[in-house]
Amino acid sequence: MYLDKIEEKMLDGEFGEAVSLAMRTVVKMGEVFSAERLVKIKHAHVSGISYENIGDEGLSFLEEIASLGGRFSVPTTVNPGAMDTEKWREMGITPEVFEKQGRILRAFMRMGAKITLTCTPHLYEQIGFGDHLAWSESNAVLYANSIIGARTNRDGGPLALMEAIVGRAPLSGLHLDENRRPTLTIDFSISEQFIFDNYLFSVAGLIAGRIAGNRVPYVIGLSRLNGDVENLKLFLAAVGASGGTGLVLIEGVSPEKVDDIPSERVEVDAGMLKEEMEKFNEDGEGIIVLGCPHLGLDEVQEIVEWIGKRGRAKRKIYLYTSRDVARMYEDKRKKLEELNIYMFADTCMVVSNLFAYGSRSVITDSGKAAFYLSSKGYNVSLVPRKIILERIAVSD
Ligand code: F3S
Repeated sequence: MYLDKIEEKMLDGEFGEAVSLAMRTVVKMGEVFSAERLVKIKHAHVSGISYENIGDEGLSFLEEIASLGGRFSVPTTVNPGAMDTEKWREMGITPEVFEKQGRILRAFMRMGAKITLTCTPHLYEQIGFGDHLAWSESNAVLYANSIIGARTNRDGGPLALMEAIVGRAPLSGLHLDENRRPTLTIDFSISEQFIFDNYLFSVAGLIAGRIAGNRVPYVIGLSRLNGDVENLKLFLAAVGASGGTGLVLIEGVSPEKVDDIPSERVEVDAGMLKEEMEKFNEDGEGIIVLGCPHLGLDEVQEIVEWIGKRGRAKRKIYLYTSRDVARMYEDKRKKLEELNIYMFADTCMVVSNLFAYGSRSVITDSGKAAFYLSSKGYNVSLVPRKIILERIAVSD
């Protein structure tokens, strides 16, 4: 692989041991991906930082890189961790886990990360069309590539971390024009009305992800999603859960031009959507968890106002959002609890331990959360948000 003079020096250790280790890793991965050279990145986002997921081994690795002098050379943000850093006791987190998650965060701080602890960096960072990134959270990767037109692979957390240190990624995969062309059409035209009438964006995403696998699909029939950030987030997060692709080109939504519409076409009909829905029980038991991906301010406002106008939620609603949004509700905590709403930041329902709330059954509107929580042994009802609010939260 071609390396310029600076990159050679990084590799040879002139910038310290951590940079050399990071460069060796990035080059090795570049060779695996057959990259001819590296590309400078504008921003990195590192996932896999929850102590619940990475354990002592991950913690030691991060502390070692920080001690070796690893420092991020581009703005770097981090995904949610195992707990709300302020309300961790309420979440049933033990002091030991709290302490270890704290050490993970301190290692990231030493390396220069912004401790955002949210999986929606695209809503807060200045990311534009054509920017090269090193992101490792699938929903964010899909949003950045598909909706903003930025360029990032679906990197693993450790690779994104190394790329953040050297400020470069292998020029491969979705960084290259030729790999961003769709090779398959997924056609929702015949089920479009059914999807919009029933708010089945998560369900449509799970199906699209499974059909696409690792290929870049061209999606038609969902152009009415243009500008609908809330439902695009749900759709793309679900694609990322059931499939391996990092880019979905949506007709009328994605900024990249599609010149050749792939002739290989899969039509999704209402029957397929109903079949997918049947995989998740619909008995509506348990607590309500919303915010996968993290809720934006508009979404939180909408939910809180909706419940507020109708009195009090009949069962507990847990909202997951960024710290920035949670701060805006800090002085309204009592008011929220009167509505039976509990807001958490820095974490989410998947990377924290929901069993601590005493419920093995959850209701969510997120296909991604449904996908992962089912695999963790929860009894999951996947229900559109509107229906959760109208029929389950206040009137059951
Ligand atoms: Fe975000 Fe957790 Fe879902 S990290 S996308 S809320 S699984």
